Amino acid sequence: MSDIDLIGASSFDQARFREVLGHFASGVTVVTTYDLDGPAGFTCQSFMSLSLDPPLIAIAPSKSSDTWPRLSNAKLGCVNFLCDGHESLARNFAGKGQDKFEGVGYRRGSNGAPILDGCLAWLECSVDQVYEAGDHFLVSMLVTDLGTQSGEPIIFYRGGFGYFHA
Ligand SMILES: Cc1cc2nc3c(=O)[nH]c(=O)nc-3n(C[C@H](O)[C@H](O)[C@H](O)COP(=O)(O)O)c2cc1C
Repeated sequence: MSDIDLIGASSFDQARFREVLGHFASGVTVVTTYDLDGPAGFTCQSFMSLSLDPPLIAIAPSKSSDTWPRLSNAKLGCVNFLCDGHESLARNFAGKGQDKFEGVGYRRGSNGAPILDGCLAWLECSVDQVYEAGDHFLVSMLVTDLGTQSGEPIIFYRGGFGYFHA
């Protein structure tokens, strides 16, 4: 029997789980891709560095994400690290249905995926391995190009945005 079975889905307090997870402060990314329908992207906090050799990062898209199937099919993406001042951009890419790229400046990187104007750093990637993980996928991505720009990061903490100045 797994730990999850022992806790029991009905007795597990999801609201408390989310509240506790919210105490983990992190940067914020927008993961983009590009296919025959144009650009797509979503705000993504679940980003981690994974391997130096080969260079791998990982993200966790929800099974309900509309961007993920497009990223999965295109097999190419870009992880954009957001800057301070990108709060409305983060909220925009956390939405659904609308044209999230309307009024958003970007250029297409060497793999074709959008690099957002003013992002702190970016990692162009190709999809490597995909693991099922509950209501999300855990996706490792091979980094094929990368870069930085000047700026300071935006931070997500307890449901709100803040800033870090070194
Ligand atoms: C700060 C922040 C972090 C988020 N992190 C994730 C994440 O790691 N994985 C995920 O699937 N959704 C995450 N979301 C929610 C998605 O951005 C949201 O569900 C979005 O509507 C998905 O868009 P899509 O369906 O067009 O892909 C996050 C939202 C915010 C505001």
